[in-house]
Amino acid sequence: MPKPTKTFLRALAGETLPVPPIWLMRQAGRYLPEYRATRAEAGSFLDLCYNPKLACEVTLQPLRRYDFDAAILFSDILVIPQALGQHLAFKQGEGPQLDPIRDASGLGRLKVDGIHDILGPIYETVSKLSVSIPSHTSLIGFAGSPWTVATYMVEGKGSKDFANIRRFAYGDPTGFDQLIAILVEATTQYLLKQVEAGAECIQLFETWGGVLSENGFRRWVIEPTKKIVANLKAVHPDLPVIGFPRGAGLHLIDFKQQTGVDAVGLDSGVPLKWVAENLQPLGPVQGNLDPMYLITGGDEMITETRRILDTLAKGPFIFNLGHGITPETSPENVGKLVEFIRNYR
Ligand code: CP3
Repeated sequence: MPKPTKTFLRALAGETLPVPPIWLMRQAGRYLPEYRATRAEAGSFLDLCYNPKLACEVTLQPLRRYDFDAAILFSDILVIPQALGQHLAFKQGEGPQLDPIRDASGLGRLKVDGIHDILGPIYETVSKLSVSIPSHTSLIGFAGSPWTVATYMVEGKGSKDFANIRRFAYGDPTGFDQLIAILVEATTQYLLKQVEAGAECIQLFETWGGVLSENGFRRWVIEPTKKIVANLKAVHPDLPVIGFPRGAGLHLIDFKQQTGVDAVGLDSGVPLKWVAENLQPLGPVQGNLDPMYLITGGDEMITETRRILDTLAKGPFIFNLGHGITPETSPENVGKLVEFIRNYR
């Protein structure tokens, strides 16, 4: 394959760039007034996800303001349980709600055949985006990793202690493996369709891996991620994959080496000097400004951003947050952040 020319793809291929590429997790979202207007036009968040024209529009909105180096498909990780047949609703202000699957007896409700009938509009959004984004911008497709998606499927909503899923997984590991296997299969098929439609890179969001025991992390984070990466690369050997195992802590090296991801996304808590010495030599890293700095702004935001750049921009690096942008973010601070990074030297 010829060498990539887009900055984001070059960094992912291992190049150290004078100015690191930048994009932000949840860069399209409620902090932007134009997003709120388009969501109102769509009717609801899920209607927006399944409306290719409007989903394409909200994906492009942050690019127009900030000229980010990458666009990320506008969708959600929970379209997979929905496509598998689990009922999903987003109640205003309450987050996602699903009919929980608490043990292996609930797995019969899930059907992998036919997911594309539901997910078709999302593939259409990807194709629209691939011809709408600027020529220097890269297009990221994504999915939730099986464990993280399973947390919502088993808990039925966001959770603080993840008691139900840990009870299922630790109490019936073989039964729980079946749920993970269904998710590996559906996620592989879903991501292959995104790549066919024009996604140039895939990010796997593993938001809740940090709640697992050591063996649990190996079995339900590292193993399924490794399978998905292998499945994708069997068809598209040069496709770059970013893994974002939030809260992985001391597992980060094993995660990078054993899953086969090309790059690792860092949460805000990871010590940067350790990353520069131990993780970045193994491949590009992405992160990790605490999104709260985009609310507080000022000199503190710049000082913290400089610390990240001083430590990580000497190697292959993509600037991002340590978690998604929050609705309270000031669009003006995002502009200041991008300007500072683009002028950093
Ligand atoms: O990054 C992007 O701009 C792409 C779009 C994207 C969304 N969600 C849009 C969204 C992506 C990549 C996600 C990932 C996602 N979704 C994750 C993993 C990353 C993370 O944030 O931890 C998770 C756990 C979800 C599940 C989810 N979706 C929850 C728990 C919620 C409700 C919480 C909230 O912020 O309201 C969502 C809703 C959601 N997904 C919104 C957006 C823009 C807000 C919906 C709205 O407009 O009201």
